Amino acid sequence: MQALDEILLEKCKTAKRVVAITGAGISAESGIPTFRGKDGYWKNYRAEDLANNQAFENNPKLIWEWYQMRMAICRKAEPNPGHLAMAEMESIFPEFHLITQNVDNLHNRAGSKNITELHGNIFTSRCTKCTFKTIQESDNFTLPPLCPKCNSILRPHILWFGETYDIKVLEKCREILNAADILLIVGTSGQVTVPVYLAEEAIRAGAYSIDINPEKSSLSQKVSIHLRGYSAKILPDLIMQLTEIR
Ligand code: OAD
Ligand code: ZN
Repeated sequence: MQALDEILLEKCKTAKRVVAITGAGISAESGIPTFRGKDGYWKNYRAEDLANNQAFENNPKLIWEWYQMRMAICRKAEPNPGHLAMAEMESIFPEFHLITQNVDNLHNRAGSKNITELHGNIFTSRCTKCTFKTIQESDNFTLPPLCPKCNSILRPHILWFGETYDIKVLEKCREILNAADILLIVGTSGQVTVPVYLAEEAIRAGAYSIDINPEKSSLSQKVSIHLRGYSAKILPDLIMQLTEIR
């Protein structure tokens, strides 16, 4: 086990309000490719080329194929020790909130309760015309899936590039980030504006900020401490050391 920085442990010992922002890196060790890593391309497309409404309107079947493939990967994947550690944080700190950019459902499956899924959930689909919403229970459905109510095309219930975040959700996130004693940033490259802005909000407000990432990201230089390594290793180490001191 890697001994953690003294200041970090001291901050964690007294912290009341802790917020984590997670990205694709926390699920890397569950076998889910990150977006901007070497396996992030699909049929030579980048995520940005597929996860947008124009691409969907041009070719809904192609976009659905990508989601169907990812759905199958996410369904087969298991939460890793990093997800489990995140769930445990809820019983360590008086207030713990998790904001995830991930749509893979692994934080829910690991037992986290206090979650905001900023970009939606891959297993939920909604109608492009009416209010119908459903959970895809299997990965074998005809493409593109149609609304049982109005027969229009269903789309993944995911926030795509160029779409607006729910303002109420953002306000709630800003509120908890402003009050945070500690901000944990895990497995994100910091390439998407809103999550970066949210993280910076807590840093500006004076939270002690920890970045967990094997690489340097756009956020690692802005945080109080960058723990260079894999979240499935560092987060359980952190939990072990926290349970000793809290
Ligand atoms: P990225 O793929 O951009 O970044 C993943 C980050 O995880 C990188 O900085 C890696 O160095 C890091 N990483 C890899 N393995 C790790 C490990 N084992 N432990 C910790 N970190 C590790 O993914 P995101 O930053 O999440 O949006 O991408 C943000 C958004 O862009 C996604 O939510 C998605 C995407 O397009 C939508 O789908 C709307
Ligand atoms: Zn409909």
